[in-house]
Amino acid sequence: MYEAKFKGSLKGTLRVPSDKSISHRSIMLGSINEGEVVVKNFLRSKDCLNTLKAFKELGVDIEDDGSFIKIHGRGKFLKEPFDVLDMGNSGTSIRLVSGILAGQPFYSVLTGDKYLRKRPMDRIAVPLRVMGATILGRDNGKYPPLTIVGKNPLNGIDYKSPKASAQVKSCILLAGLFTDEKVKVTEPVKSRDHTERMLKVFGVDVEVDGLSVSLGKNRVLKADIEIDVPADISSAAFFMVAAAIVPGSEIVLKDVILNPTRTGILDVMEKMGVNFEIIDRRVVSGEEVGDIKVFYSSELKATLISGDIIPRLIDEIPIISILATQAEGETVIKNAAELRVKESDRIKSIVFNLKNLGINVEEFDDGFVIRGKSRIAGGKVSSFGDHRIAMSFLIASLISEDSIYIDDIYCIATSYPNFLSDLKLLLR
Ligand code: S3P
Repeated sequence: MYEAKFKGSLKGTLRVPSDKSISHRSIMLGSINEGEVVVKNFLRSKDCLNTLKAFKELGVDIEDDGSFIKIHGRGKFLKEPFDVLDMGNSGTSIRLVSGILAGQPFYSVLTGDKYLRKRPMDRIAVPLRVMGATILGRDNGKYPPLTIVGKNPLNGIDYKSPKASAQVKSCILLAGLFTDEKVKVTEPVKSRDHTERMLKVFGVDVEVDGLSVSLGKNRVLKADIEIDVPADISSAAFFMVAAAIVPGSEIVLKDVILNPTRTGILDVMEKMGVNFEIIDRRVVSGEEVGDIKVFYSSELKATLISGDIIPRLIDEIPIISILATQAEGETVIKNAAELRVKESDRIKSIVFNLKNLGINVEEFDDGFVIRGKSRIAGGKVSSFGDHRIAMSFLIASLISEDSIYIDDIYCIATSYPNFLSDLKLLLR
């Protein structure tokens, strides 16, 4: 049980750790590339290190000198792994790597921790089977461990994805590198587009037409490049909200990714009356980046968060729920049923914890409503083994009357190993 009793306003400048989605993809695409890639500012969190380890086990020569990662790509075809690949807590690793393994003419098994083994894999298994791979898993192929017997070449696919999921889209695009046939994915709402962007940087022909993404003629990755990974807006979000709710705060978060598929939280902050500005917008390694300055904001108002914005802020909803407790009125979150199959059932985790702290909150199937301007009493909460739930409630302790006790905060290492020391650094 961890006792959180942080007090003080937040001041100063911080570069939060690098983007998780881009760090994963830099290893994956760098590994199947014909050339050498240097990754600067790679995120050394548990999830991304699991991806790195998996590609080493798949025969890729990857050097890590503690500062840069150098990947000597082996081209598209990898080596059959000697053992089960353990993806830990990482949904992105298991789902994207499955796409690459579907095109390998060998046998592999992918597993993860007890949380990952409960997350649905049929969303990728179904299209990968259409493409010709054999994918087996627990409960009729739905859950890890997954067994993959790949095939080369795979069949093409024109897939209408029932979900706005970058993991599903990316899995299919990566499998699509192993066929010359038509490969097209259409989403109901646009999800993050880092895979499309990075494939282009590696020289692959990718066509984006509204909600559809297709692969073109060239599907060989051939590049000698440096990838500089920007700071993760999903990690910055904890401090943006902290600064907005703690009187006297004023912080600058450096090098934050501002890819429009990721900035839903900034739109919500604006609507809720958070006082912030973006300084020095620029482009780094094909992604928009900027510094974000956030001030304490005393006049927060509630808002409705639903529809197309959901995929653009899906990972930030836990910390947005803390912001909502301090806003005048009812903040309603709807159309967010995907939260139920994240690292924890995040609707349940958020509602359970907020209730324990004395907040007026009501659960729906696909979201919840928070009645704001509430005092946060303090009390016991659970992280449910979910990094973003743990960090959100550590931030809540900044404004709680009594301590907040959290059962397990080790899960934070999944995305942000130095979260506590960075928080202490900003506190005055
Ligand atoms: C991710 C996509 C999102 C997000 C996850 C990372 C990615 O998941 O929640 O944390 O890197 O592609 P879905 O694509 O399943 O929505």
